[in-house]
Amino acid sequence: MAGAQERLKSGVYMETGVRPTAAFGAVATSSSARSFLMSCRNLGAMAVLALGLALGGLIGGLAAAGGAWAADNQAGGSGEPIVIRFSHVVDESTPKGIGAQLFKERAEARLPGRVKVEVYPRAQRYTDEEVLVAMALGDVEMAAPSFTQFRSFTRAMQIFELPFMFDSVDHVHRFQNSDIGRQLLDFMLPQGIQGLAYWDNGMRVISANKPLVVPDDAAGLLFRTEPSAIFQEQYNRIDVATLPLPFRDVPDAIRTGLVDGQENSWSNIYSRGIHKLNRSFTELDHSFLGYMVVTNAAFWSGLPEDVRTTLESVLKDVTTEVNALAQRQAQTDRDKALGEASITIVTPTPEQLDAWRNAFTPVWQDFEGQIGQEIMDAAVAARH
Ligand code: LMR
Repeated sequence: MAGAQERLKSGVYMETGVRPTAAFGAVATSSSARSFLMSCRNLGAMAVLALGLALGGLIGGLAAAGGAWAADNQAGGSGEPIVIRFSHVVDESTPKGIGAQLFKERAEARLPGRVKVEVYPRAQRYTDEEVLVAMALGDVEMAAPSFTQFRSFTRAMQIFELPFMFDSVDHVHRFQNSDIGRQLLDFMLPQGIQGLAYWDNGMRVISANKPLVVPDDAAGLLFRTEPSAIFQEQYNRIDVATLPLPFRDVPDAIRTGLVDGQENSWSNIYSRGIHKLNRSFTELDHSFLGYMVVTNAAFWSGLPEDVRTTLESVLKDVTTEVNALAQRQAQTDRDKALGEASITIVTPTPEQLDAWRNAFTPVWQDFEGQIGQEIMDAAVAARH
């Protein structure tokens, strides 16, 4: 098999941390958000991220024009229900998929005839790489992208990507419930995006076709990761190249040999059959896959107050249920994967874990300037 670097042909490799380019600035105002974003697919996911950055000013302007946006998109006055399009990329059986469906059922039951929630799973509408721009442009009202998708909008969210920063789900929750954790929900308001809640999935597991016990075992491999500058850097440190691809493409990328391995939560691995494609899974628990449930800020603030407060109450209850479910499902999907495929699950010893930690954690200092010392300190302080 060719080395990872050779397989990263320039047309395929998508650099993370892209800067805005003038090329994307002008097109944004033409046609609908959806057709525009569809054409962006031809340019590749990172073009959309670049667009997200380039559009910063435009999106801020849209947020300021929120009243008009809300009036256009909000029925209610005409007797028609208010439509909330909730776009996500995972299967309906995963914690996020179940959460989106629960939100729909409860919202429609508590606001009969006033609210209609349309859930679009499995990237039917947008990939995570596209959805925030689509939301800011008014083509989707709700989404729950993984934390890695917010980097174009605020570098602070990278706190959730730092390897070995969070040692348990409880630690993640303590940070999210801290003052700074709650403030992060508002960090993208200048771009017209309002955070509403944090949803869990689980700790990430890494996989390949050979046991990855210590970092040296992975040297020379190519991993699909989410589009994260931190993930790219952490893996480069152990000579693993990374290829950011939309989630829907992961099974094909492994099946065809485009990539050697990947990292994800057990529910994402199981629901996409990745346990039947890679043979060895290492429970490294080096990072946590979670989501921020977000909405278009102008849409949300333009809702009738009783509708908004009811939706917030529904979301609060659903969040509690999703997060409890995520913990259970991490275990049950792991067991199902083990039962259905002849895979090996590697549990590193404390010494082996130290080797991974020592290899990965130097990236903290590369990114603390972007994330901010106060946020770094708050995350460390939430450990106990
Ligand atoms: C991934 O791209 O691997 C995940 O972020 C997908 C998801 O939404 O869980």
